[in-house]
Amino acid sequence: MTTQFYHCPVCGNVITKLSDSGVVPHCCGQEMELMVPKTSEATYAEKHLPVVKKVGSCLINVKVGSTPHPMMPEHHIQFVYIEFRDCDGHIGGRFVRLTPDDSPECTICTCSINVEAVYGYCNVHGLWAVDCADVCGDNQKCSDADNSVKDSAGSCGCDNPQQAYYACD
Ligand SMILES: [Fe+2]
Repeated sequence: MTTQFYHCPVCGNVITKLSDSGVVPHCCGQEMELMVPKTSEATYAEKHLPVVKKVGSCLINVKVGSTPHPMMPEHHIQFVYIEFRDCDGHIGGRFVRLTPDDSPECTICTCSINVEAVYGYCNVHGLWAVDCADVCGDNQKCSDADNSVKDSAGSCGCDNPQQAYYACD
């Protein structure tokens, strides 16, 4: 879990740094608060830790909360963030934005990425994250990419035919 998220306690803005100069960002005239993700459930009635499951050869499904978190305008999951390493070991991430009209879950293709951690952000209860090594340790690795499938079909054999293949080599 290396991605840092900041929160404005006044307006609720949440940001991350694409490049870090070391300066604390400001919002609404004051310093934003660095959020340390919670990694175990608290005593809230709602559950917040992302539950990550492999649902296909290269797909993972993320549900926020072992029981689905509420999705009401005043209290909902605003985003899921998948932190990964690429085939060269670089850290990166994918955001999935959620609205109160959505379920608190998403499904993404993991071709050519090694998922390291999954975050979920609740607008009331803050940032939560799980180390993915604990929950999807058999996730597809770059070295497992099926090049024969890529070469013959132009895709990875992904369960979602709309997904492009992101070559590792
Ligand atoms: Fe919550």
